[in-house]
Formats: sequence, C-alpha cells, structure tokens
Amino acid sequence: MRLSVIGCGYLGAVHAAAMASLGHEVVGVDTDGKKVDRLAAGKAPFFEPGLDELLADAVASGRLRFTTDIAEAAQASLHFLAVGTPPSEGADAADVSFVDAAVAALVPHLKPGDVVAGKSTVPVGTAARLSPQIEATGAALVWNPEFLREGWAVNDTVEPDRIVVGVSGPGADAAVEVMREVYRSALSRGCPLLVTDWPTAELVKVAANAFLATKISFINAMAEIAEVVGADVTQLADALGHDDRIGRRFLGAGIGFGGGCLPKDIRAFAARAEELGRTESVAFLREVDAINLRRRQRAVDLVVDALGGDLVGRRVAVLGAAFKPHSDDVRDSPGLAVAVMLRGLGAEVVVTDPAALENARRIHPQLEYATAAEDALAGASAVVLVTEWDQYRRELSPSDAGALVARRLIVDGRNCLDAQVWRDAGWEYHGMGRR
Ligand code: UDX
Repeated sequence: MRLSVIGCGYLGAVHAAAMASLGHEVVGVDTDGKKVDRLAAGKAPFFEPGLDELLADAVASGRLRFTTDIAEAAQASLHFLAVGTPPSEGADAADVSFVDAAVAALVPHLKPGDVVAGKSTVPVGTAARLSPQIEATGAALVWNPEFLREGWAVNDTVEPDRIVVGVSGPGADAAVEVMREVYRSALSRGCPLLVTDWPTAELVKVAANAFLATKISFINAMAEIAEVVGADVTQLADALGHDDRIGRRFLGAGIGFGGGCLPKDIRAFAARAEELGRTESVAFLREVDAINLRRRQRAVDLVVDALGGDLVGRRVAVLGAAFKPHSDDVRDSPGLAVAVMLRGLGAEVVVTDPAALENARRIHPQLEYATAAEDALAGASAVVLVTEWDQYRRELSPSDAGALVARRLIVDGRNCLDAQVWRDAGWEYHGMGRR
C-alpha cells in the first residue's frame, strides 16, 4: 500500500519505518528539514533500540522516503497523522495546533477514497471536529491510537497487542477494510482488531495511560504508608501481583513516572474532563499526579536525612537521566528532577547516563555530567540511582563502586538493587518504601 506518515517524531518515525519494513511504500513528512535529512540518511533522530537498522534497511529498499513537502503525500492513499500534542503554553490541556496544521496542509492533497488515520493522542472530540474538512474531499477519517512504549517502540509497532480503529459515517466500512489491509501481518498473527466509534477510540488511549499512571501512583501511595509502618512495598507488590486480577506489572514503586506521555496525558485528560463538565470523574488523576511528584521529593529527603541535613558542597552522583531505561528521552524525567532539586539544596551533583546525557545537558546545563559512571561516583558522598539501566542494576558492583565513593551511601530510586548485597558490601542502602 502507498502510505504517508505526517509527523516524524517518536511515533511517526517508528511507524513509517515499521510500515515500510512490512512491504508498504511510505513517505514520511515533517516540517523539520534537519530531522528529514537525518531520517532520509537512515538514521534515527533519537535513541530507540532497533530503529537505526530498521530505517537504514527500509530507506535502502527504496520503500521509505522522507520529505518536508506535504504535496508528496498525494501519491499515498492512506495518511497517518502522527504529530505531537504537547501541553499548551501555561496550561494542562493538549495543544492540538500541530494536528490542526497537519490536517489543513494535507486536505488539498486528499482524493476521494483516501483514508486519514489519526494516531496522535488527542482530546476526545478531536476526530469529530476535524472530520468535515476531510470528508469534504471524499476521504474518510479513522482514529487509530498508538500504544507504543519508548524503548520497545519497534516491537510494539510491528507486533501491537491490539489495534483500535474508530470510524464513523458512510465511508466507515471501506475505511476499516483499508486498515485491515495495512495491518494484515499483525492481524494474521492473531492481534485483536477492535472497531469502534471515534470518541471511544480517542478515549482508549488516554484511559490506558490514565490507568497505567494510576497503577504506579497506587503502589507509590502504598510506599508512603510502608515508610510509616516499617513495611516493604516491593514485597507488598509481589504479593499483590500474584492476584491475576491485579498483576505485578506497573507496580514498581520508586521515584515515579515521567516521559513524554503519562504526565502530560493525565493532565490533558483532566483538563478535557473539566471542559466536558465532568471534572469530578477524573479528579483522582490530580491525586495520581500529586503522589507521583511527591516521590521525587521523597528521594531528595532520603539523601538529605542520610547526610545529616546539609547538602552544601557535598558531591552526589546521580545514576541515570533518561525517564526510563532504553531511552534517551529526558522529558519530565523524575531522575533529572531529583538531580535539579539536590543541586538546588547546594549539592555538587554529577549526572551520568548511558544514552541521555546530551539531551539532559541541553535542558539542564547547570548540572555537571560524566560520561563514565566511575567518574560520577568518584568522591561522591551519596549515590542516587534514578533510572534502572542494566549498567547500574546488574553490572555495577557494590565493591567496585564502594572503592570510588567518599561514602558508601546509596538511595535506590527504582528499588532495583538487591539491598542485602549492597549492605553486605558495606553500603548504607535506602530504597523507596522499603525497610
Ligand atoms: C507510555 C505507555 O506505556 C504507552 O503505552 C503509551 O503509548 C505511551 O506512554 P512510555 O512513556 O514509553 O509509554 O513509558 P512506560 O514504560 O509506560 O513508563 C512510563 C514511566 O513510568 C517511566 O518513567 C517509568 O520509569 C515509570 N514506571 C513504570 C514506574 O515508575 N513504575 C512501573 O512499575 C512502571
């Protein structure tokens, strides 16, 4: 099939490359010339495992091109909208101006029978608002939310766990057939296809992210209680997780969630609910957000308390900058927020990360950075693990690290280390919500 993908960020670049790898002819369109040049050279503009190879192969095969010229989308008959929906300036509501601009630019190139598939995470009601201008061309609009996780984006795109297609109006059946065709390989492997209406499809995405965020904040709320009563939240999570109805995944207590999706999506959802006159329906999301932000402060408090209340001039090594491992994304990174707070209290903070240092330096130039973890650890009075990279979780030896630091004190912001192993090596170990 001939496809266009409008917007080549995290979502669009991966989607374009994955669709080309499945045999489709794809043109990726983005307004950022530098990004387009990089992608056209087969290089990912961000760190995503497997993406460089996928892009390079697809570009070499001739099935994947990138351009800044939206007119080239005219050759395609299925157009994916994959532009970003960041928070609005000074407000929680999603800024949909990139979606609106993409549609306005695409409309003159649409032909009768074309299908426009919205993948961006949008406030519920967006598809209905956009549809008249798309349908006036004879094209149909479907909403097809994307659930990919950073770090697993290639796999999640090629082998999704479900495909949701929201449709409406007279062109609906034909549009569903087009979506069946484009996702044929996943569907043939048994991936479920859920055909629904526009608002349900839009809601699925924000509801999924709201649920995941709630699950994380639930266990972090339990961590707060565990801290008061001397319980251990990781054992609590294990015990809860054996109940199939609950499940252990996303019950990882620590410094909480960040990234480009969960924080902004729950805030945008709450803002949209307010616009819809249903503030109270998702008022709990404000609490989910508040619990999440408190855990960052808790990690800072653990360092301050362990160091006797004064951080001025104390060297603190922060292991991690990315909001999660296998990513170089530092958007709303809880770990970087902790680093910034520690520095604000007078500590000499040195941050290290296997992938995200460049991005971290760009937004927080005031922090010190070390490429090698050893350099960050050297002379540190406290170590704070904020991103559970294998390099820290599995490969960092407590005795080797102990030989580098000034004091064997570690705060495990992700509860990912074996406390006993670190204590046995002479470290003062503090987890989050753990004895
Ligand atoms: C999320 C959704 O998972 C994905 O489906 C959606 O399409 C986009 O948003 P992503 O932002 O890539 O994906 O990250 P995710 O793996 O969900 O992790 C989000 C944050 O939660 C990270 O900061 C992670 O460290 C944190 N987290 C995750 C926890 O604190 N505890 C957990 O148990 C799990």
